[in-house]
Amino acid sequence: MKVTVVGSGYVGLVSGACLADVGNDVLCLDVDPSKIRILEEGGIPIHEPGLLEVVQRNVQAGRLRFTTDIPAAVRHGDVQFIAVGTPPDEDGSADLQYVLAAARNIGRHMDGYRVVVDKSTVPVGTADKVRAAIAEEVAARGAALEYSVVSNPEFLKEGAAVDDFMRPDRIIVGADDARAIDWMRELYAPFQRNHERLLVMDVRSAELTKYAANAMLATRISFMNELANLAETLGADIELVRQGIGSDPRIGWHFLYAGCGYGGSCFPKDVKALVRTGREHGHDLRLLGAVESVNERQKRRLVDKIVARFGDNLAGRRFALWGLAFKPNTDDMREAPSRVVLEELFRRGASAVAYDPVAMDEAQRIFGDEPRLAYAARPMDAVDGADALVIVTEWKEFRSPDFPRVRDLLRQPVVFDGRNMYEPAVLERHGIEYFGIGRG
Ligand SMILES: NC(=O)c1ccc[n+]([C@@H]2O[C@H](COP(=O)([O-])OP(=O)(O)OC[C@H]3O[C@@H](n4cnc5c(N)ncnc54)[C@H](O)[C@@H]3O)[C@@H](O)[C@H]2O)c1
Repeated sequence: MKVTVVGSGYVGLVSGACLADVGNDVLCLDVDPSKIRILEEGGIPIHEPGLLEVVQRNVQAGRLRFTTDIPAAVRHGDVQFIAVGTPPDEDGSADLQYVLAAARNIGRHMDGYRVVVDKSTVPVGTADKVRAAIAEEVAARGAALEYSVVSNPEFLKEGAAVDDFMRPDRIIVGADDARAIDWMRELYAPFQRNHERLLVMDVRSAELTKYAANAMLATRISFMNELANLAETLGADIELVRQGIGSDPRIGWHFLYAGCGYGGSCFPKDVKALVRTGREHGHDLRLLGAVESVNERQKRRLVDKIVARFGDNLAGRRFALWGLAFKPNTDDMREAPSRVVLEELFRRGASAVAYDPVAMDEAQRIFGDEPRLAYAARPMDAVDGADALVIVTEWKEFRSPDFPRVRDLLRQPVVFDGRNMYEPAVLERHGIEYFGIGRG
């Protein structure tokens, strides 16, 4: 099939590359010429394991191309995926300006039937707005063209995005016309060869499903963080509690880790947007309001512990920070807890030396010439001479460090572990003062 993907970020580029990999003819559009330049030069503008290989393979095979040319992109794809950003507006609602701009461009330039697919995470009712925006543009040209609007929210995880797209747990298709549903089935058939994973539903339910999924996962994290804080006061260990409840199949193991809060481009904005949607329709989603405020507090938890240990005035102190990305295997720092930790440390007069395997360029872009932030080429270089080590992201390479070396390099052997990567007893044995989250 001829497919256009509008927006070549984490979701658009992965979707485009994977759709090309099963044989489709894919054109990825972006309005950011610097991204398209990187792609045309054979690179990718993000860190995503395995993606570069899929992109290169399909570019070489002539199935994947990139452009900034909007009319050409609209003419190319019978199916037009909209995968642009939906950042939070000032009031927390999803900002739909990019989605609607993409829809208008489609309406302006389409020359025949198109299936327009909302892949961006968008509030319930957005498909109607997309449909109206296209209709207006088509009417303004005095044209009479048919099109369908489908909701197909994306569930991929950054860091495992290629695998998630290639082997989805489910494919949600919200649509109400048979032709569009048939096309979506055809497009997704290669990704569900051993059993049917495609769930067809009405558009509004599809739109809500995406928010429901992210809100549920965020709820589990905030639930565990809240219990972790209680466990500390009670002298219990949240890691043991986690094992005790995760083994119950009704609860399961996933997303039960206490830590220094969730971040990323999805959970924070999607929880906010759902709360906002509720409010607009007269529903006070109290549970999700609490999920959000627990998370905001939790992002400050590490600094609270640092202050409790070193005092509020941190002037002259330097902290080693391991991990900047909001989670491992990505360079994404949107809403990352590391940003809150760094800002709170700076506010109290401290400086930091950070190490992250892939997100240091992104940190440099965000923090610019911030004089209180330096970067280390290796994890131990960050630790050398620091007052304490603070772990913010659970990268695999931090799992088993040389603890005696950490102890000897630190000015004071203190570790604040925002991801509960280590056993308190092990660090104690190495003569390191250990502060985890909810470890009694
Ligand atoms: N990142 C994730 O893990 C993830 C997972 C599932 C769903 N989502 C959702 O998918 C959507 C995209 O997220 P992302 O992380 O890929 O965003 P992103 O910021 O990485 O990419 C969006 C891209 O769209 C481009 N763009 C904006 N307006 C455009 C237009 N009119 N025409 C062409 N390109 C345009 C931007 O330049 C940018 O490159 C969001 O709604 C997000 O909530 C993201």
